Amino acid sequence: MTSPDLAAERLLGRVIDTASDLDEALRAAVFGLAATSDRYHWVGIYLLEGNTLVLHNEDGKPTPHTRIPLSQGLCGAAARERQTIVVDDVRQDPRYLACSPETRSEIVVPIVDERGRVFGEIDIDSDEPAAFGPEDRRLVEMVAAALAARFEGAGP
Ligand code: SME
Repeated sequence: MTSPDLAAERLLGRVIDTASDLDEALRAAVFGLAATSDRYHWVGIYLLEGNTLVLHNEDGKPTPHTRIPLSQGLCGAAARERQTIVVDDVRQDPRYLACSPETRSEIVVPIVDERGRVFGEIDIDSDEPAAFGPEDRRLVEMVAAALAARFEGAGP
């Protein structure tokens, strides 16, 4: 018997795999993740353009941070380090760039291929402290891997 969470995860993976193009896949990832949990209050995808992360699409209150230099924020750190960053209390992290005053915790997962090429990242904010546990991390990393495959398929 498959748990509902696993079924939702598989469905989201399939939607990303079968989206008509990369743009659709990126939008499906955001709305699919936003629909997954009431704790995900803002979901967005940034794409790396040179040394800047540029917001591609979002679900939630519009963020003022539509362009983030790689040198700044949790977003910049996750892309530079090519690693997932989970912050249980953003008020305690000096790297944090505030998007909404209600935000308390955040996860940022880079979209990176096996060769280490960074295409962008998935960023999720929650108004609850410590909202992102191992299951959330697994889900978002699965979505990032599915998107990385789409970038590879679309690339030169
Ligand atoms: N908090 C992010 C900035 C993006 S907003 O959360 C949408 C950061 O610290 O990089």
